[in-house]
Amino acid sequence: MSGEKIKITVFRYNPEEDESPYYKVYEVPFESGMTVLDTLNYIYENYDGSLAYVYGCRYGFCGSCALKINGKPTLVCRELATKEMKIEPLDNFPVVRDLVINREGLEGRVRGIRPFLERVTLPDKEPEVLKPADFKTFRLVSRCVGCFACVSSCPVTSADSYKFPGPSLLTELARYSFDPRDEGDRTTTAYFEGLFYCAGCRKCEEVCPYEISVPELIVEPLREQAVARNIEPSVVKEVVKHVLSTGNTLSTLEEDSLIKKLLPLEEAKEETAKVVFFVGCYVDQDFRLHQVGKSAIEILKKNKISVAIPKDQVCCGRPLLESGENKKVEELVRKNVLAIESTGIREVVTVCPGCGLTLKEDYPLIFSRIEGRKPNFEVYDFSEYLLNKVKLDWKKLRKLDLEVTYHDPCHLNRGQGIHQQPRQIINSIPGVKLVEMEEPDRCCGGGGVIKAIDSQLAQIIAKRKAEMIKSLNIKAVITPCPTCMLQINQGLKLSKVKGVKVMHLTELLDQAL
Ligand code: SF4
Ligand code: SF4
Ligand code: FES
Repeated sequence: MSGEKIKITVFRYNPEEDESPYYKVYEVPFESGMTVLDTLNYIYENYDGSLAYVYGCRYGFCGSCALKINGKPTLVCRELATKEMKIEPLDNFPVVRDLVINREGLEGRVRGIRPFLERVTLPDKEPEVLKPADFKTFRLVSRCVGCFACVSSCPVTSADSYKFPGPSLLTELARYSFDPRDEGDRTTTAYFEGLFYCAGCRKCEEVCPYEISVPELIVEPLREQAVARNIEPSVVKEVVKHVLSTGNTLSTLEEDSLIKKLLPLEEAKEETAKVVFFVGCYVDQDFRLHQVGKSAIEILKKNKISVAIPKDQVCCGRPLLESGENKKVEELVRKNVLAIESTGIREVVTVCPGCGLTLKEDYPLIFSRIEGRKPNFEVYDFSEYLLNKVKLDWKKLRKLDLEVTYHDPCHLNRGQGIHQQPRQIINSIPGVKLVEMEEPDRCCGGGGVIKAIDSQLAQIIAKRKAEMIKSLNIKAVITPCPTCMLQINQGLKLSKVKGVKVMHLTELLDQAL
């Protein structure tokens, strides 16, 4: 023993005795290699035998011990203790007592999805031979231990757990849906259990102790199955039809297009490099967002980079991928790749994380599938390009005198691993003070197809973000994502937050140049 002590703040609540929950601080002797569960056991054995918490296997297998440690859900039997910890029960569940949650509601709902192999046809021969390839996804989803860490972090479940019981139910469903022996109608069940409500924010994947990627591994294939069987919300069908017939997500007039107003090549004086600008539907078609694109071009030109804007670029296809339309997206991918390649420029910048993620992650796979090769260019988010490729003279920036907060767009943060770069740019602008909000990476509700299928639910999620912003007393929210900008703006209006401007990173930087 080193003599060192750990300070632990524990959530306490006994509904039979306490009027409301409270926090109690304990000091526990630190031992190297001790887990959070060890610290709870110490408190139970030495200070308070009435502390309620749950554990079973002690090796990450039974899933019963998940708790929130310093705001992050985790299995406490595997998590090493740190010098200062706040331990709370999982969010999105009723508290029974102290750190114990009531799992019965969700477990009952899981029982309702028929969590067993449904089979009518007998195997051709015995023993039945199953190839490993048929079991690949099944094996991955079978790692789920039912700890519900994902459910406690899901912003949609948090907004309405009846409409969307959360990722772990879909994971359980996927065990059977992806088992080649199962013959149950899992697609219809998935549809009625909120399949199209997932916002694709990837928070569940971030907190899952077994890194199960629910959106990619489960939601996307299940949506594809649903679409193949025509089981999809009618409004999603309309969106897909519109994107395919116009090449655009929004229904605005052609003359409102920013792309149409720009030159095919916006030339910089004393040019040192050229880059392609993939504008994206929202910045192109929504006049409120035109300035985002104009600012991006200005910043690049002022830094001696000419900007090519291919006129025949269309929607990146993200709305189709999120709707389970993996086949129909191919034509959009082909069009965009050929439009970009026709410029002869090998670098592309985006100001929309959804477009950026699609171009980086999905295009190489889809284009290889249809054309047998990868696209001939590299894609960068604007902040990434600015920091890695441009020799920006930060000393020349003007002072702005502004207190701001930053919202992490899910497709940029968890999608592309970009969270420090935008903050670095904000912190480099003289006079700008960055104040972090409680959960900067919490989804604003702008992702997926929620806004299209249930605008009220999307509004509840946006209002939660707005409340966090409200408590900061700042003048602007910076977020490098056009859809997050619109969504947060709406949340602020609904929550009656006045005097806070929502700006893209390009607009902020442009003001300082
Ligand atoms: S991706 Fe986000 S919205 Fe979808 S299930 Fe996971 S946490 Fe919930
Ligand atoms: S998917 Fe991961 S986080 Fe969710 S219940 Fe299963 S193991 Fe836990
Ligand atoms: S005690 Fe079983 S997973 Fe932690």
